[in-house]
Amino acid sequence: MKVAVIGCGYWGPNLVRNFVQSNKVDEVTCCDRDQQRLDHMRKLYPMIKTTQNFKELLDQPDLDGVAVATPVYTHFPIAREFLQHGKHVFIEKPFTHSIETAAELIKLAEEKQRILMVGHTFEYTAAVTKIRELIGNGELGKLLYINCTRVNLGLFQPDINVVWDLAPHDLSIIMYVTKEVPLTVNSQGKAHFHPEIEDVAITTLHFKGGLVAFIHNSWLDPNKIRRTTFVGTKKMLVYDDIETQEKIKIYDKGLTVPPYYDTFADFQFSYRYGDIYIPRLDDFEPLRKQITHFLECIEHGCQPLTDGYSGLRVVSILEAANTSIKNGGKATPVRFPSEMRKHMDLNKEVGLTKQWGGLRGAAVH
Ligand SMILES: NC(=O)c1ccc[n+]([C@@H]2O[C@H](COP(=O)([O-])OP(=O)(O)OC[C@H]3O[C@@H](n4cnc5c(N)ncnc54)[C@H](O)[C@@H]3O)[C@@H](O)[C@H]2O)c1
Repeated sequence: MKVAVIGCGYWGPNLVRNFVQSNKVDEVTCCDRDQQRLDHMRKLYPMIKTTQNFKELLDQPDLDGVAVATPVYTHFPIAREFLQHGKHVFIEKPFTHSIETAAELIKLAEEKQRILMVGHTFEYTAAVTKIRELIGNGELGKLLYINCTRVNLGLFQPDINVVWDLAPHDLSIIMYVTKEVPLTVNSQGKAHFHPEIEDVAITTLHFKGGLVAFIHNSWLDPNKIRRTTFVGTKKMLVYDDIETQEKIKIYDKGLTVPPYYDTFADFQFSYRYGDIYIPRLDDFEPLRKQITHFLECIEHGCQPLTDGYSGLRVVSILEAANTSIKNGGKATPVRFPSEMRKHMDLNKEVGLTKQWGGLRGAAVH
C-alpha cells in the first residue's frame, strides 16, 4: 500500500516509523508545512517521499490512506478533503474539535465507504485489553469507582486546554473497559498561564448504574504520572502505565458492611487484606498494533476497533467537560447527535464487523 503521514512534529514520526517498518506498505510520503521537519524525516528514512502541501496528495490515484497528526483544529479540514477524494483516513486523538465536525466526518466516510479510524492508542495495549477482560468476567465484582491521574510538566498547548490534550486517553480507556458511556460530566479547571486555556482540571463522569470516574489532568505537576485505579466490590486494580514490567496489580482487598446492626458500637466494617496478583502481559508496541489494524481494515474492509463513533464519544465528553468548566463545574449532559444515539450503547460487543469487503481500489462514490 501507499500511505502518507500529514504532520511530522512530535508524534507523527512514530506513525511514520511504523508505516515504514510494515511489510504491507511499499511507499510512505511525509507531509509537513515545515521543511525542516521533512529534512529531518528524510535523514531518518531516506526512502520516503516528502511534500509541504497535503493538497498535492489528494489526486494521487494510488495513495491508499493517510494518517493525520497535525494540531487538533486542523484534523477536520484535512481529513474531510482526503475522505472527499476517496482516501482512507486515520486521525490522531482527539478526533476533531467539535461534535458537529466529528459527525460530519463519520457521515462522509460512510457515504464514501472509506475507513475512518481514531488514534485511541491505549485500546491497543496489552494492559488495557487485560483490564477489559478482567472487568468483563467479573473479577473485580461490581465497579464502584475509577480514579485516573494523567499529569506531567508541560507540554503546554497553544489552542486546546489540558482536558482536550490529556483526557482523551482516560476517556477511551474508561469506555473501552467498562463498555459504558457517561451520562453527565462535571469539570473544574484553572488557567494559570494562558487566559482561557486551563492547565489543570478535575473531571468527574457519572454513569447510569451509579459508577463514577474521576480524572485528574495537569500540565503543572513535578512528576509524570499515568495511573488508573479501578475499585470493585470484590477486588481493586491499579494500572500504572509508567511501570515497565508490572503495569497491572490486582489487590484482593475490600470491605464488607455488616447486614444489620443495632447500635453504633455494633457497626464495624470488616476489611479484607488479601494477596496481590500481577498478571503477565504480552510485550508488543501498541502503536505497531494500531497501525497494522488500520492497514488490515483497509485491506479487508473491516470496521476499526477505534472507529469514528469511538472518536465522537470522546469528543462529546470533552465538549461537555469544557462547558462544565466554563460554568464553574456545573453538571453537563453528554450530547450526541440524535441519529447517532445508538452508538452510545457499548454493551453490544465492540468487534470487527466486516462491512464492505476489500476496499483497496474499490469504487469511490
Ligand atoms: N496517540 C498519542 O499518544 C499522541 C501523543 C501525542 C500527540 N498526539 C496527537 O498528535 C497530534 C499532533 O500532536 P503533536 O504533539 O505531534 O503536534 P506538533 O505541533 O508537535 O506537530 C504538528 C505538526 O503538524 C504540522 N502541520 C500543522 N498544520 C499542517 C498542515 N496543514 N499541513 C501539514 N503539516 C501541518 C506542523 O508543522 C507540525 O510539525 C495531535 O492531535 C495530538 O493530540 C497523540
